[in-house]
Amino acid sequence: MSTVLCPLESVEDGASKGFSVDGKDIFIVRQGGQVFGYVNACPHIFASLEFMPDEFLDDSGEFIVCATHGALFRIEDGECIAGPCKGDMLTPVPVSVRDGEIQLD
Ligand code: FES
Repeated sequence: MSTVLCPLESVEDGASKGFSVDGKDIFIVRQGGQVFGYVNACPHIFASLEFMPDEFLDDSGEFIVCATHGALFRIEDGECIAGPCKGDMLTPVPVSVRDGEIQLD
């Protein structure tokens, strides 16, 4: 069964947003009509990634950034491309957009 997280339009294009679902912290990044979802835990020491609520991206908006040690992750697949956990992956969560709503599948 899928869970509605929020309307797509409530997240600006290029922005990110965190959620707690059944005690599990996740976040999504919106890119146009597409969304990418990951567990909110850095593969380095499993710290939460964001430096402020719903702020998961670096200044350029091109990468997910870990606030603790600055690791950078590709939005598309969650691979760490710089930092102490380079080559490691964020854990993906299956999200999709249906009828204008972002859903956890
Ligand atoms: S906890 Fe994320 S880079 Fe160290």
